Amino acid sequence: MTDTEPRQTDQNPDLTTTAGKLADLKERFHEAVTASGEAAIEKQHAKGKLTARERIDLLLDPGSFVEFDEFVRHRTHAFGMEAKRPYGDAVVTGVGTIHGRNVAVFSQDFTIFGGSLGEVAGEKIIKVMDHALKTGVPMIGILDSGGARIQEGVVALGKYGEIFRRNTAASGVIPQISIVMGPAAGGAVYSPALTDFVIMVDKSSHMFVTGPDVIKTVTGEDVGFEELGGALTHNKVSGVAHYLASDEEDALDYARTLLSYLPQNNLAELPTFQAEPELEITDADRRLNTIIPDSPNQPYDVKTIIEGVVDDGEFLEIQPLFAPNIIIGFARVEGRSVGIVANQPSAMAGTLNIDAGEKASRFVRFCDAFSIPILTLVDVPGYLPGTDQEWTGVIRRGAKLLYAYAEATVPLVTIITRKAYGGAYIVMGSKQLGADMNLAWPTAEIAVMGGQGAVNILYRNEIKRAEEAGEDVAAVRTKLANEYTYNVASPFLAAERGELDGVIEPAATRVSVIKALRALRTKRATLPPKKHGNIPL
Ligand code: HXC
Repeated sequence: MTDTEPRQTDQNPDLTTTAGKLADLKERFHEAVTASGEAAIEKQHAKGKLTARERIDLLLDPGSFVEFDEFVRHRTHAFGMEAKRPYGDAVVTGVGTIHGRNVAVFSQDFTIFGGSLGEVAGEKIIKVMDHALKTGVPMIGILDSGGARIQEGVVALGKYGEIFRRNTAASGVIPQISIVMGPAAGGAVYSPALTDFVIMVDKSSHMFVTGPDVIKTVTGEDVGFEELGGALTHNKVSGVAHYLASDEEDALDYARTLLSYLPQNNLAELPTFQAEPELEITDADRRLNTIIPDSPNQPYDVKTIIEGVVDDGEFLEIQPLFAPNIIIGFARVEGRSVGIVANQPSAMAGTLNIDAGEKASRFVRFCDAFSIPILTLVDVPGYLPGTDQEWTGVIRRGAKLLYAYAEATVPLVTIITRKAYGGAYIVMGSKQLGADMNLAWPTAEIAVMGGQGAVNILYRNEIKRAEEAGEDVAAVRTKLANEYTYNVASPFLAAERGELDGVIEPAATRVSVIKALRALRTKRATLPPKKHGNIPL
């Protein structure tokens, strides 16, 4: 329909009367929500995808959605576009509530111009982002789009630039969540990339800067959409995504749960839930006394410790498939949110590598920006050795985690459960980096390196002598390593010097964490004034 053509309606209401005008309004509303037509919706459903509005309905509390700009229409004349000007264009925007708290949302509508972003779709997104920033509420974007609207050229590109600028301005001010539920191609991927959390749906969402055809032309590589930029790839390999949803409902449900841990903005209080925890050690707490194996090389699952310490054992893991040697996620202690960072001894023995460092540092910075206290569980034998790590920048990229902890001003509680060796001891929320409450289990070993490694350097001559004397070298090594661990790596030495605030029975961990976080609730800390720091990137 063009601007000059009369509207074709079923009932042609009499617009000279109030009743007629109301009927006309009703018809226009109907037209806005059905703009794409049945066929396009069926096509969307056939792909196992919901429509933009169905997604919003599932995301928000029932009946809470208030739509913005449903009568917006594009103004493009190029390529005969004036013949099709659906109400609302290719994105649905507005506000609503999740668990009773306000949020802002945009949901790209693939059934209209492939969800592509032209001038007015861009303006709608920009308006709702501005609203989210102005009112200090989380911004949730649901992405399902062919990217910049090809017919609109530079105007469409410009709107992306304005969106990226707002994503950046909003970073650290309001939580931003992207739920990718279809294609996100080209530069369009950078809006989700700038947000705090990216959720992707298995098999139906794809993100890439250059697609399979361009890759084939330029590099000759043969790669399909799924392998290149599917949800599994970005959850497991690239680390772009934070959750691999089994379907769209799972993705929306995860976003709702995630928000339940987050404050509305960087100045708002954390959401608090009713909780009256037992402050005596319970039988369940005592299970932690047997979790550390006698052999230092035997792994265990750190999630058992996390679940034993937090309220109701409920832990929302973030990025579970990427760099599983470090675990990050949210939980509650005494009904209040905490961020958890933990080395995972059951994956790569919990060593730190570039991926683990980057995963944890972004999480620490998120928690710090939104005043979420951080609990760090340490069992780390050191950094992963190798040329691959050195040449891909473990110095530069590994420094991020140091920077993140050293800059954090939120309450920091650190528990060393077993190994804390070398630089990895320092980086994992050590006292020297600024942690507030550092505790260790009696099984902790804090040293420049593990006993076996230290013996190879310190007792080279003794081992040579034992070899020459035909003694049992392995037994000599073990004896010396045990002596080193006992005499040098003992947590009591660190406690003696005040580098630890205490050594606790594992069973006392839950109660100790509750009391530490209570004591730190009023923590105030500031950094020297600056425009911004220069984190190694
Ligand atoms: C205008 C678009 C469009 C776009 C899709 N459509 N993408 N219209 N601009 N970018 C339209 C199609 O013409 C079609 O219209 C409808 O949406 C559905 O698309 P299909 O191709 O039928 O769907 P499907 O087979 O599922 O394929 C989806 C797709 C494909 C993979 C996304 O449409 C595609 O490759 N589109 C182009 C992607 C792209 O190169 N975008 C530019 C990226 S660069 P009809 O009328 O037939 O239903 C970019 C730069 C951002 O975005 C820069 C930021 C700085």
